Amino acid sequence: MITSDDVTKQTAATRTRYNRIAPMYDAMEAFTERAAFGAWRQELWAAVPAGRVLEVGVGTGKNLAFYPPGAQMTAIDLSDRMLARARQRAAALGVRVDLRLMDAQHLEFPDNAFDAAVTTFVFCSVPDAVAGLRELGRVVRPGGAIWLLEHMRVDQPFIGPLMDLLNPLVVRIMGANINRRTVENVQQAGLKLVAVRAMRGELVRLIHARP
Ligand SMILES: C[S@@+](CC[C@H](N)C(=O)[O-])C[C@H]1O[C@@H](n2cnc3c(N)ncnc32)[C@H](O)[C@@H]1O
Repeated sequence: MITSDDVTKQTAATRTRYNRIAPMYDAMEAFTERAAFGAWRQELWAAVPAGRVLEVGVGTGKNLAFYPPGAQMTAIDLSDRMLARARQRAAALGVRVDLRLMDAQHLEFPDNAFDAAVTTFVFCSVPDAVAGLRELGRVVRPGGAIWLLEHMRVDQPFIGPLMDLLNPLVVRIMGANINRRTVENVQQAGLKLVAVRAMRGELVRLIHARP
């Protein structure tokens, strides 16, 4: 159980970390983006219907190119420097999106404000992941869709415990947890699982859920 004091401290640390890596982020991810992430993003967004769509943890805006044509897009991030990059990318691509500085754990939107919400590689670094997932369930209307492309703990002997062992070190270096149980967290947040698809073994999964 994470205390609210821990959440406050870890949220501030996450913001500082992403503000620091924002200028290097795209270069750091260039290889994986070309090797796999780009295709996965395309596949995910092809399933998202146009409507009122929220992207949480937009980062530097790598998903912007895949936004559904005609969708009314809103995207948030905790880091102003990541968001500044997303703003530049939106301008370069001519993509219309309402970009806002906001914490996923406390979304400043009314209930049922969106038809769908999407995250890609975000819930590894949100300190209170269940609170953030609960917020998605609150702002997406009943019957709407929640799509999460996330890396998580591999529930296999040796690999799972090894990920647990290495996690504190990886958090210190990269800021992201490698042993999040995101499928379980989705259920704990009260969301209904529609489908879970393994994209790279159990390590990266595409989760389709509903509020
Ligand atoms: C690994 S990056 C992924 C960025 C982007 N979604 C992508 O696929 O390239 C994680 C992003 O989540 C953001 N983030 C982390 N915790 C957050 C929170 N509590 N609220 C909103 N954004 C958060 C970070 O600032 C960062 O931009």
